[in-house]
Amino acid sequence: MFPQVNTLFSEMEGKRPELGRHGLAVAHLSYEVATTVRVDVGSWEMEAAAMLHDNAKILWPADLSYKDRRDLSQRDREIISSHPEMGRRIVAVRWPQCPVNILRLIESHHDPRGWFPAQVLAVCYVWVACHEDRIYRRKAMPEKDVLQEMLRVAPAKVVNLVLNTVRHEAMCEATIGEHHAISF
Ligand SMILES: [Fe+2]
Ligand SMILES: [Fe+2]
Repeated sequence: MFPQVNTLFSEMEGKRPELGRHGLAVAHLSYEVATTVRVDVGSWEMEAAAMLHDNAKILWPADLSYKDRRDLSQRDREIISSHPEMGRRIVAVRWPQCPVNILRLIESHHDPRGWFPAQVLAVCYVWVACHEDRIYRRKAMPEKDVLQEMLRVAPAKVVNLVLNTVRHEAMCEATIGEHHAISF
């Protein structure tokens, strides 16, 4: 991993620890997907972009991340919709040699169009975001709603790919848990 990724990530995490947790969870999942199928970008590029994809949120007003969607002003909506582009610009300025794939992934994470690597990143961040504790969400999101959110950003075959990775990871964790239960 390039030191610039760690520097930018540490700054983000220092200011907003929850963005650090979110970035790492998305990085873990998207890296796993990128190692199981060919995604046309390096798995480390996918991981770096996932870690930094929301870095522009450190510039947001303190309460914006916690606002109910119904309370958002026009200005709030503009700030939210521009964070992928703003994030790309921040990384490009701070890391002039940043590989173009990383910049492109950050810029397109909310609007991947037909680019497969960005579709994978988008489905991964949606899955993670829907399973995180959010102050405005009182109970777990129903899985059918999670599925719908994922299908808004990418086609079904990409959603299935990410879900297969999630299931595989869960199975591995369950097996490790069982093994520990037997051993100890
Ligand atoms: Fe985002
Ligand atoms: Fe995100």
